[in-house]
Amino acid sequence: MNFSKWVSLIFILNLFCPTLSFSDSSSSSSSSSSNGLTEIPKRFLQFAKRPELFDWMVGIRRKIHENPELGYEEFETSKLIRTELDKMGITYKYPVAVTGVIGSIGTGGPPFVAIRADMDALPMQEMVEWEHKSKIPGKMHACGHDAHVAMLLGAAKILQEHREEIKGTILLVFQPAEEGGGGALKLIDEGVLENVNAIFGLHVSANLAVGEVHSKAGPIGAGNGFFEAVISGKGGHAAIPQHSVDPILAASNVIVSLQHLVSREADPLDPQVVTVAKFQGGGAFNVIPDSVTIGGTFRAFSKESFMQLRYRIEEVIRGQAAVQRCNATVDFFTEAKLFYPPTINHKGLHEHFLNVAGDMIGIHKVKDVKPLMGSEDFAFYQEVIPGYFFLIGMQNVTRGRLESEHSPHYQVNEDAFPYGAALHASLAARYLLEYQPEVSFSERKFHDEL
Ligand SMILES: *[C@@H]1O[C@H](CO)[C@@H](O)[C@H](O)[C@H]1NC(C)=O
Ligand SMILES: *[C@@H]1O[C@H](CO)[C@@H](O)[C@H](O)[C@H]1NC(C)=O
Ligand SMILES: [Zn+2]
Ligand SMILES: [Zn+2]
Repeated sequence: MNFSKWVSLIFILNLFCPTLSFSDSSSSSSSSSSNGLTEIPKRFLQFAKRPELFDWMVGIRRKIHENPELGYEEFETSKLIRTELDKMGITYKYPVAVTGVIGSIGTGGPPFVAIRADMDALPMQEMVEWEHKSKIPGKMHACGHDAHVAMLLGAAKILQEHREEIKGTILLVFQPAEEGGGGALKLIDEGVLENVNAIFGLHVSANLAVGEVHSKAGPIGAGNGFFEAVISGKGGHAAIPQHSVDPILAASNVIVSLQHLVSREADPLDPQVVTVAKFQGGGAFNVIPDSVTIGGTFRAFSKESFMQLRYRIEEVIRGQAAVQRCNATVDFFTEAKLFYPPTINHKGLHEHFLNVAGDMIGIHKVKDVKPLMGSEDFAFYQEVIPGYFFLIGMQNVTRGRLESEHSPHYQVNEDAFPYGAALHASLAARYLLEYQPEVSFSERKFHDEL
């Protein structure tokens, strides 16, 4: 799919996915205390902390950890998920986006709310020596997606046990290929979000305390794009430069000019990054090469800044190459879906999150997250429907520091599982109870976040 098609796809989905308008949060929280809604998160957490549920989640996570699978190859992981859903009597759709599984709990009718876990591992060797170390050389769950699957199955168990309380339908989204494969976009292409009113996702965090959750309204993760440019000149003898068109010098000027996009053109209060991380060209001391390939990444927190960078990166590369008498082609890998939008949390859902997480663990354990330049393919969902992404802590200082995500020494603190499972379940169940569609279709507001 080329880029313009991608944009129009998002636009079309926007039109066909009308979303419930959020009543102001004060009215919803006042009604919630009257009918026991505020008790749901605590009840669900107690349920998730029961040894039989906790041990079951831990067992599932360790099994997945031993057999890590890369994006779109999560066949065994997917099979394990379906086996557990079968045992619980939960119906599901499979396959979706190659290995994805979409479970469904509740009435089968509207409103619909989705909770999502990613399933893929990373192509790296685990260096932690423990009983459940990865059995696949060169593959490892080093981003906690094994924990995400276990917690979503935990939520499924909680919700299935309490299914008579569900006023609508909760979709369990087991998504492939978060790490660079754009699995979320593929699920959207296959219509998974049709009629879905909101979606929640979480990520474990090694740097936050266990029992705490962190998030905020608005941007929390950057949009991420990659670019590669081939700058073509005319090769020749290095001692006779007048007979050549030197792409090495042209590429060098291109790189210097690209640095001005952030330092001179961007708002200093709007964080952005342009990094050229790849430079390939030439192979001899005395030969000017025909061409040079450069490549890198660019990041921004708003769609506008992101698109402006993309536009200017191409313009600067072509223009600066032309000044040096070279030609340039620029590729943004939109076909390969290496183009993640910024992760932008819906304001109404943030209120909902504060209410639910606050009722579960106390509002003092619900903290503001500092936005990261990193990106998450959950952002694709948020372009189409209101979505909310949050971090759950894993750190326990009495047991020492945990390595960050993508480290070969990465470890998960399984004590966090009851919080993740109960939050997933409570956010979804209470969303359906609090946001029943009382408005007619024509009165519903269209999603206009971006
Ligand atoms: C650049 O492209 C033009 C038009 O195709 C061509 O005439 C020219 O020779 C190219 N220059 C180089 C340095 O490749
Ligand atoms: C932290 O670890 C200690 C030792 O294993 C344990 O006793 C304690 O309950 C843990 N704290 C939390 C909040 O999980
Ligand atoms: Zn990751
Ligand atoms: Zn991750």
